[in-house]
Amino acid sequence: MKGYKIALIPGDGVGPEIVAEGKKVVESAAERYGFGVEWVPYPFGADHYLETGEVLPDSALKEMEELDAIYLGAVGDPRVKPGILERGILLRLRFYFDQFVNLRPIKLFSGVETPLKDKKPEDIDFYVVRENTEDFYIGLGARVSESGDLHQSLKVDRRLYKGRFEVELELEPMQEVAYQIGLISRKGAERVIRYAFELAKSRGKSKVTSVDKANAIPQIYSLWRDVFNEIAGEYPEISTEFNYVDATTMWMVKRPEDFQVVVVPNMFGDIITDLGAMIQGGLGIAAGGNINPEGVSMFEPIHGSAPKYKGKGVINPLATILAGAMMLDFLGEREASVAVNRAVEKVLKEGRVKTRDLGGDATTSQMGDAVAEAVKEV
Ligand code: IPM
Ligand code: MN
Repeated sequence: MKGYKIALIPGDGVGPEIVAEGKKVVESAAERYGFGVEWVPYPFGADHYLETGEVLPDSALKEMEELDAIYLGAVGDPRVKPGILERGILLRLRFYFDQFVNLRPIKLFSGVETPLKDKKPEDIDFYVVRENTEDFYIGLGARVSESGDLHQSLKVDRRLYKGRFEVELELEPMQEVAYQIGLISRKGAERVIRYAFELAKSRGKSKVTSVDKANAIPQIYSLWRDVFNEIAGEYPEISTEFNYVDATTMWMVKRPEDFQVVVVPNMFGDIITDLGAMIQGGLGIAAGGNINPEGVSMFEPIHGSAPKYKGKGVINPLATILAGAMMLDFLGEREASVAVNRAVEKVLKEGRVKTRDLGGDATTSQMGDAVAEAVKEV
């Protein structure tokens, strides 16, 4: 029997309870379609950090290199300073495994309410392809207490200092300043933009929209645009469009039906996918995949650890379950992935089992059970 080894990182807050349901559904699909899943659990998150001081050791990353995928709940805890776990676990994994695509489908299922008046499931059905390793997330920056230090700091960083800052920045001598560098590389833009066009082709979509802010932040986003135009030339059958990110947020609310595949740099992608989650009925349903087509990919709900709901069994596990379906697709288990998606569709359409966010009172595990059962029938 074919089998997969999957790293399981439940993480913090509601992470463990939603991951338990995702696991249940993946196992149900594995049983039906005849493949095995071996879970390799990892304890990383706030408790582990507070007990041991360890965030995510290199040895674990090395081990995960040998696995087929990573399934993650959520990280983040009010007892730990913001950023330590998010950067130390989530972003570390994305960067270490070079998961350069963050694929976030925005799909309104029937039976789910959208806050957008008069929009139907056929109006909200597109993919956001978020670049996942560059832009303002590269972690290059500093806080300096005197602007003199800034010049020093930029000079020291020879990758950045090209003589421009010295002439263009007019800072008071004793001013406190901070900077954070956004970086787009040709290779980084190319690979994610090509992924978006290939996705459009394989999913029967006929348009790719590029999102940027080339009017105000020209250096990095004009490179993005140039690369987008070049790649677009290789796909004459797919139409293209440019949107500034501010306008994108407006159009996502006003005319979501105009989007099919959106490709977007990292930070703007972070922002517009929370908006995307809302128009598809809430964070309880929004799933994402951090993908390296040739490496180890990681699947997770878009939402965070929601610490105040921890252990209450009220969180909707569908985002995690749908991330599990994306993982199955990525592993090559197409039928199993389709079955999980159909099972979710069925449960939502029937509307008998609904968690609190969907207007019902089903628990997290009742929702998981309903989908796991439906997987056997669809
Ligand atoms: C996300 C999250 C992360 C991000 C945070 C937790 C670092 O918001 O996955 O969208 O900014 O990418
Ligand atoms: Mn986010």
